[in-house]
Amino acid sequence: MQIGVIGDIHGAWDDIDTAFFNAAGYDALLFVGDFARIAHSRPVARRLASLQVPAWAIPGNHDAINLAQLIAEIKNRPLATRWGALGMQRRVARLARDLGSITLGGYSRHRLAPGLGLIIARPHAMGGDRLYFRPYLKRAFGIASLTESRDRLCALIDTAPRDLIVLAHNGPAGLGTTADAPFGCDFDPELGDFGDRDLAEAIAHARATGHRVRAVFAGHMHHQSKHSGEWRQTAARRDETLYINAARVPRIEADGRRRHHIRLQIDAEQCRAETIWTDNTGRIVEHTPIEPNNV
Ligand SMILES: [Fe+2]
Ligand SMILES: [Fe+2]
Repeated sequence: MQIGVIGDIHGAWDDIDTAFFNAAGYDALLFVGDFARIAHSRPVARRLASLQVPAWAIPGNHDAINLAQLIAEIKNRPLATRWGALGMQRRVARLARDLGSITLGGYSRHRLAPGLGLIIARPHAMGGDRLYFRPYLKRAFGIASLTESRDRLCALIDTAPRDLIVLAHNGPAGLGTTADAPFGCDFDPELGDFGDRDLAEAIAHARATGHRVRAVFAGHMHHQSKHSGEWRQTAARRDETLYINAARVPRIEADGRRRHHIRLQIDAEQCRAETIWTDNTGRIVEHTPIEPNNV
């Protein structure tokens, strides 16, 4: 089957994209979240609702939030984060409605094809060693720590098919500690690996219990560092798992003449990905096989 994966949109989606994906022949589309440019996801969600392809999405840290709340989360102000979380369940539900037939998941399990499950990981993840949006996660899912988050993901995996794809907003820990690693911290290299520990432990649990995690898709840590201007490695392979950071931001370049996404081809044996660039007439202008580093 062929799966289209779209990284952090951050406002960069228009009817040309919708028309392309409706005609591209994908069996499924996966969205790693961050629809909003900064804090308003609904205009993008309403445009995405015209897609006619089976699709799944995870909310990013810019989705269904308000700006004061996001700043409070970044600055770790417990009182303000609690205040900001008021109404977040309602905002997430509204986003899910706006997305039309796209399934907005989070701590959830789905079926991509016979024998191929999809695990949608912790919503609104922001990396590092902190459970961001804790007041919301506690209310919506009963999750109050990274350990509880890992346990919830493990429980979902335990009843999933052997073969799995994982969709997350931020990627797992363990793929490198440098700023240019797939989920390395670019804004403060001292912080090193900025991947999610709960997700890494859940993937390890999946392997230990006989699952094949075929691919893990995430974003959040944008490809180009805002601080140094350097580009990160965007893919890695460990054992049978292909890890891809899809967050090319902005995903539309050159006045709309270049539009980014990832194409995954997966069958019982193989799992290969390509970077695809399309233009504003819906033609593919570049496709480059992704050669992951073994980690
Ligand atoms: Fe993002
Ligand atoms: Fe993000």
